[in-house]
Amino acid sequence: MTTIGVLTGGGDCPGLNAVIRAVTRAAFARGWGVTGIKNGWMGLIDDHVEDFSTFSVAGIISRGGTILGTSRTDPFREDGDVERIRQTLGRRGIDALVVIGGDGTLRVAEMMYRQVGIPLVAVPKTIDNDILGTDTTVGFDTAVSIVTDAIDRLHTTAESHHRIMVVEVMGRDAGWIAIIGGIAGGADEILVPEVPFDIADVCRHLKDRYASGRKSSIVVVAEGSEPADPEAFMSGLTASDATGHECIMGIGNLVGREIQQRLGVETRVTVLGHVQRGGPPTPYDRIIATRFGVKAVDAVSEGRYGMMTALCGSEVTLVPLSYVVTGNRKADLELYRMAGLFFGR
Ligand code: F6P
Repeated sequence: MTTIGVLTGGGDCPGLNAVIRAVTRAAFARGWGVTGIKNGWMGLIDDHVEDFSTFSVAGIISRGGTILGTSRTDPFREDGDVERIRQTLGRRGIDALVVIGGDGTLRVAEMMYRQVGIPLVAVPKTIDNDILGTDTTVGFDTAVSIVTDAIDRLHTTAESHHRIMVVEVMGRDAGWIAIIGGIAGGADEILVPEVPFDIADVCRHLKDRYASGRKSSIVVVAEGSEPADPEAFMSGLTASDATGHECIMGIGNLVGREIQQRLGVETRVTVLGHVQRGGPPTPYDRIIATRFGVKAVDAVSEGRYGMMTALCGSEVTLVPLSYVVTGNRKADLELYRMAGLFFGR
């Protein structure tokens, strides 16, 4: 009997459990066994695994997080970890792995396949949507819906108080959440990591809006956004606490403080943070997670290892991990330009 090991690595996101469920159900349908591996690669290093039954995945399609737990463990960092993984796979009779992860986990998976020869298939997940080779990742749609809902709510309080609201969203290397969430929420300005911003330009735009009678504005800032000229920040790029100790401020807070100082308009900052990664997945994420999970098991049955499930248009396909790890997928700048049409400049 074939036994598949399934693990989730890196940051969690809504939809992971739906993938685990789909992998398990699809494997059981073939008469195979499934072993759940706890806490990412760590579970294979310390032999923390559990043989699944149908009950193990009952009722989890709607649950956020991951029933397996996760970690950012990189087995190539510690001497002996790769060998420990090989031993666990042998001892537990695991024939192939389904690895559900974002960029870090997929990089390790690619090395495990290419250098160590472990048969595996990967499934892309991250709310950031920045994985090369696929049009979407598990978790992204849910994050966008949370951001859109937050912006809808910020509009009404911004209008009531005639304020500028800055909302910082996740996205260290790519502005997908900011752009798609910002367009859906009707943001008035969107800042992304792909395009360094000019703070004077942002403030000029907000001032013009104010002068034309629009007394409230929503500014969406991806956490990885950077100013083109850091020196242009009149209020600086750091803050001090009561004792004079320098504190690290996120870009959302820096932008909010600068806008208020330059325009003299009351400005509030909301950092959405991990709220974007929590709670139940949207129907779209449940379905894409299910399709990816089933496709991963199909790939194992065909011996198509070293591949990642991917959405290409409306079709679920496989792409080589060797391509996936060559970079990360930047946001669509055409879509970003389109967003600008609605900024009312
Ligand atoms: O990569 C996904 C992500 O949610 C990023 O958007 C964010 O910067 C990061 O993870 C946060 O990681 P952690 O949960 O370790 O704080």
